[in-house]
Amino acid sequence: MTASLNVVVLAAGQGKRMYSALPKVLHPLAGKALLAHVLDTARTLAPQSICVVYGHGGDAVRTAFGDGQYASADLAWAKQEPQLGTGHALLQALPKLGGGDVTLVLYGDVPLTRADTLKRLIETASDGSLAVLTVELADPSGYGRIVRDTQGKLTGIVEHKDANDEQRRIREVNTGIMALPTRRLASWLGKLENNNAQQEYYLTDVIKLAVAAAVPVNSAQPASEWESAGVNSKVELSQLERIFQREQATRLLEQGVSLADPARIDIRGTLKCGRDVVIDINCVFEGDVQLEDGASVGANCVLKNVRVAAGAQIHPFCHLEEAVVGANARIGPYARLRPGTKLGEDVHIGNFVEIKNSEFDSHSKANHLAYIGDATVGKKVNIGAGTITCNYDGANKHRTIIEDEAFIGSDTQLVAPVTVGKGATLGAGTTLTKDAPPGELTISRAKQTTLAGWKRPVKKAKGER
Ligand code: UD1
Ligand code: MG
Repeated sequence: MTASLNVVVLAAGQGKRMYSALPKVLHPLAGKALLAHVLDTARTLAPQSICVVYGHGGDAVRTAFGDGQYASADLAWAKQEPQLGTGHALLQALPKLGGGDVTLVLYGDVPLTRADTLKRLIETASDGSLAVLTVELADPSGYGRIVRDTQGKLTGIVEHKDANDEQRRIREVNTGIMALPTRRLASWLGKLENNNAQQEYYLTDVIKLAVAAAVPVNSAQPASEWESAGVNSKVELSQLERIFQREQATRLLEQGVSLADPARIDIRGTLKCGRDVVIDINCVFEGDVQLEDGASVGANCVLKNVRVAAGAQIHPFCHLEEAVVGANARIGPYARLRPGTKLGEDVHIGNFVEIKNSEFDSHSKANHLAYIGDATVGKKVNIGAGTITCNYDGANKHRTIIEDEAFIGSDTQLVAPVTVGKGATLGAGTTLTKDAPPGELTISRAKQTTLAGWKRPVKKAKGER
């Protein structure tokens, strides 16, 4: 039986070693704030309440999660000022707890704990006992050490600064993550004292109180050491970022995605791939990206909130945002698809072509050097090199419509609003200000003349007038 749950996230610490104006828990890992990772994991446990204990710089944290980037209404907030230790922090959250039997304590700066690990810990505590997530470290210095009796029973946690030499040799440490019986908390936290090396109210001292009250104290361990790793500096943040990215790359490889190098891919969001997807090096995927069967992404591409349909090829050095790429399309190299781009089947978009808020129907092409904005392009349209939609008059945006099978000559300006009719041809260099009728050649170009016998000027000799 799984017990009902409250979650408390401790996040009042200052994070001085980040050397940043941004509160520590707002620093991004894989494009998402550390605290957002913790909360997203907590939510998968379906708790009755989640309370974040905040302090230093915490108003920025509250804003980010209140009505900012991570807006969410399911959070309770408890301010801890001043910060007198982890026990004092949990005490501030007590009035905000829901009716859960078990209270799970997480840290806002420990982002990568797996939900399965937490479930095991909660399960361990579901009979009213206390459960501590512990881990064995090669170098345990700085951490609270797990003290066990001769039967191996957990009897206490001694902070590094309070530990004697013998205790400091213990390699099993407190990760800080604990599941506690909610109904005992008021009494236990009320009894904590701060007569220790740091003059703090240690949450870890509840272990002694549990032992004294004959409440069993158990432990669980994470599957991987990094699940309990915290972020105190940019160095640690970058290490966890790499671990997280490596894990995501491994998942993709396991699903059959081909990665040229699993160490050179960054996913800041979710990447869903079909069968036989190939991704070359140094690609960044942000938000929700979907690559359907047989799609490929060349080296050094950035894709943000993009869907790439089956068989489409994104060549190297492309930047795609809020765009849909049709089946078997070919994009790039060096193409930019901006928000609102929708490309149909077998569309070709070549080098140095920028497209914004435009639709291309199937088999249309813009292969070189063009800007197509606010346009509706039909089927089998050919857009020549240097074509520009003049979509903005300095105040408003206007649409360009190019109907099926039109041929737009090179170096054409389409001054919107304007329509190119079905099968129309525009001569190279045209500045189109009025609609071009279907099926006809339209051209705006000064007549070509040759001045017979014209001579180039020659440079005067020195002194010559
Ligand atoms: C704590 C544990 C230690 C454990 C280690 C794991 C205690 C007394 N010690 O030590 O056993 O090995 O974590 O990293 O619990 N926080 C507050 N308010 C406070 C103090 C801390 O909200 O007044 C928050 C911090 O923001 C942080 C977490 O609690 O998220 C841990 O604080 P930290 O100062 O890192 O604790 P340690 O001394 O490292
Ligand atoms: Mg710490």
